[in-house]
Amino acid sequence: MAFADANELLCQIERIGVDAERGGYSRPVFSEPEMELRRWFMRHAERRGLELETDGNGIIWAWWDPAGLGRDGAIATGSHLDSVPGGGNFDGPLGVASALAAVDVLVGRGVKPARALAVAVFPEEEGSRFGIACLGSRLATGVSDPATVHGLTDARGITYDEAARGAGFDPSLIGPDPERLAALGAFVELHVEQGRGLIDLDRPVALAGGIIAHGRWHVRIDGRGDHAGATRMADRQDPVVVAARVIESLREQTLAIDEARGTVGRVQVTPGGTNVIASAVDLWLDVRHRGDAEVRTIVAGVTAAAVAAAEAEGCTVTVTEQSFSPTVDFDAELRDAMASALPGAPVLDTGAGHDAGVLSEVVPSGMLFVRNPSGASHTPAEHAEPADVAAGVVALADVLEHLLTR
Ligand code: GLV
Ligand code: MN
Ligand code: MN
Ligand code: MN
Repeated sequence: MAFADANELLCQIERIGVDAERGGYSRPVFSEPEMELRRWFMRHAERRGLELETDGNGIIWAWWDPAGLGRDGAIATGSHLDSVPGGGNFDGPLGVASALAAVDVLVGRGVKPARALAVAVFPEEEGSRFGIACLGSRLATGVSDPATVHGLTDARGITYDEAARGAGFDPSLIGPDPERLAALGAFVELHVEQGRGLIDLDRPVALAGGIIAHGRWHVRIDGRGDHAGATRMADRQDPVVVAARVIESLREQTLAIDEARGTVGRVQVTPGGTNVIASAVDLWLDVRHRGDAEVRTIVAGVTAAAVAAAEAEGCTVTVTEQSFSPTVDFDAELRDAMASALPGAPVLDTGAGHDAGVLSEVVPSGMLFVRNPSGASHTPAEHAEPADVAAGVVALADVLEHLLTR
């Protein structure tokens, strides 16, 4: 029986989670679109005879183990199905669709695996609902504390536990899963490239070298709400003015360090009326650099600027770390093994975070990138040409065949 290939699989989900307001796709974890994508994945895994299991952290594992070898030393591949608000159809789903298609290639080649293969789907990789990126893999590896996660809230005040329960999960089961992860011999994530590396090299597929350090910080500024016309300028305690300084300072601090990245992509003004001086502002910093210390330096500089600006305006400010992911250099031995299956493949670092980076703490992990002709990601412009998707599937199958038959 012929199954849908990766391009067909991606076409099938083109209508799921379309965000008419923002453009692109919004598929937050545990929302109806993300649940529909999970069901879609499970249907296609079942059709291929994969054995399905969803663990306590909401990670789906679809096992291909034709010889009944068990889990010891298994190879895992996969990615995520949640998206940023207004994102594209490739960040995450490309790795999931390619993994299913790679299983078909392995079956078609008559590969006799010496260990089992799992296709994994991770929840809340983007952290776009509860603020912590790679939440599923962070919980599984013990990097995120379940006690904190239970109480996380989304933009509408819904807690993680409420959302998980609403989607049919038992949130009391979240937490470290060392045995499951220790059994894995390797994890390989295929991902659409989120920059221009492969465009510049004129190549369809690359291996990942590493992931630069990145983190998120919540900045909360409290001031005093009042009337926009009746309040003299001198009498104001306006948190928006402080927020402006925080954003400006982030730009200054980031520009002062070569190759650093600093972003404020989300600002919430309370109550948010044109003729109302705000009472509070919440904003979030995303800061990245190859060196952990540089990220810390930038955040310290912005924090100092925030405190000074708050003091000058009669406001208060708190800066709270939500997550920090140190620089990842992927396992060299695994990369060599992957390179021997893909001779001559270029090696690229990435500025984007991935579950493979979090898992690399406990499982030898690696990644493949597929060329993105727009060079853009976290926008609807993100793309991969069908021929490159197909090349990515073959590359993933080559790597998996090599790892499964060693
Ligand atoms: C996730 O894609 C991130 O890098 O923020
Ligand atoms: Mn991704
Ligand atoms: Mn992403
Ligand atoms: Mn990511």
